[in-house]
Amino acid sequence: MAINSILKNSTPRLVALISSSIIAISTLLVFILCKILFTGMPGWLIIFAATILIFAIGYIVVYSLVERFIYRKIKLIYKSISDTKLSTKDTPLKSSMKSVKLIEDAEVAVLNWQKSKIKELNKQKKLDKYRKEFLGNVFHELKTPLFNIQGYLETLIEGGIYDEKINLKFTKKASKNVKRMAKIVEDLQMIANLQDASFVLSAEKFDITDLVKDIIESLEVRAKKKKNKLEIKEGCNQSFTVIADREMIHQVLNNLIINALKYGKESGKTQISLYDMNENVLVEVSDNGIGMDKDQLPRIFERFYRIDKNRSRKLGGTGLGLSIVKHIIEVHNQTIHVRSTAGVGSTFGFTLKKA
Ligand SMILES: Nc1ncnc2c1ncn2[C@@H]1O[C@H](COP(=O)(O)OP(=O)(O)OP(=O)(O)O)[C@@H](O)[C@H]1O
Ligand SMILES: [Mg+2]
Repeated sequence: MAINSILKNSTPRLVALISSSIIAISTLLVFILCKILFTGMPGWLIIFAATILIFAIGYIVVYSLVERFIYRKIKLIYKSISDTKLSTKDTPLKSSMKSVKLIEDAEVAVLNWQKSKIKELNKQKKLDKYRKEFLGNVFHELKTPLFNIQGYLETLIEGGIYDEKINLKFTKKASKNVKRMAKIVEDLQMIANLQDASFVLSAEKFDITDLVKDIIESLEVRAKKKKNKLEIKEGCNQSFTVIADREMIHQVLNNLIINALKYGKESGKTQISLYDMNENVLVEVSDNGIGMDKDQLPRIFERFYRIDKNRSRKLGGTGLGLSIVKHIIEVHNQTIHVRSTAGVGSTFGFTLKKA
């Protein structure tokens, strides 16, 4: 027991020193014992008996040291990283002394574990960076209208309220900024809801072509203001019944068509096309507007991402529209894609399941 506790708290050098001392002292004792016990026997027999005894003692000492201080510890590490839960019925350690295999397995497991941890760490770092960037964007987007409102209200309080030239103008401006803040909060809440695992779609059957026609009608005034020709593409106006959340698909089409009008040319053209794709319907919204560079395309579905922040802000954009569109299509288990060429135009397409 005393040796046990000494060994437990020792360095490998001390363990080696103690174990070799045990073997050396035992060897000496065995020789003395053999000399006393087998006095009449031939020398080679005494050496033979002593060798066997020393071998047995050495074997027991080395075995117990390896088993207790190396094998068990490796087994413990292996067990904890590979999540292997040994039940009480499992083969006892002593009978499964496949040390070499175990050490190799442990090495592979440690390497795999290290790789997975590095991957996980990198993922967490990316997420952390993304979260910080997102929070920074939220603060920035809310801060601007908030400071504007503060400015308008202070001017009104300091006497502007009695000045007929500015009182109504500043109140309207403050109200516009409040609306912008409310829209940002509403959009962010919508994205958060769509990302929530417990989100449930209220899917129904409806005619997607009819919905497109309704939206075109509701955006006609807006299109006319920009002298934009907004229409369903000729030959692509077949009726399709789809199964989806009508309200949400309404929002998808609205966002995409408004973008086509916003980033479209004066006197340009916006076309909506519907294509039969066996089980699905492909809906495309195309414009011949400013378009986008290829390297911008992977980022446009990110929250708050705008290619030209100033232009978008002037047009009342928050950069959340396409992110909402993408999330809505994803909760429908469908896909969305974009093709675009700077200066030529863009086409956004998404699929819907046929009823
Ligand atoms: N049809 C398009 N043509 C050219 N650029 C586009 C088009 N649609 C989107 N974009 C670019 O992608 C960016 C992101 O679009 P998104 O709809 O998410 O934001 P937004 O239109 O700026 O604001 P909002 O939140 O009001 O929709 C836009 O700022 C614009 O730069
Ligand atoms: Mg938009």
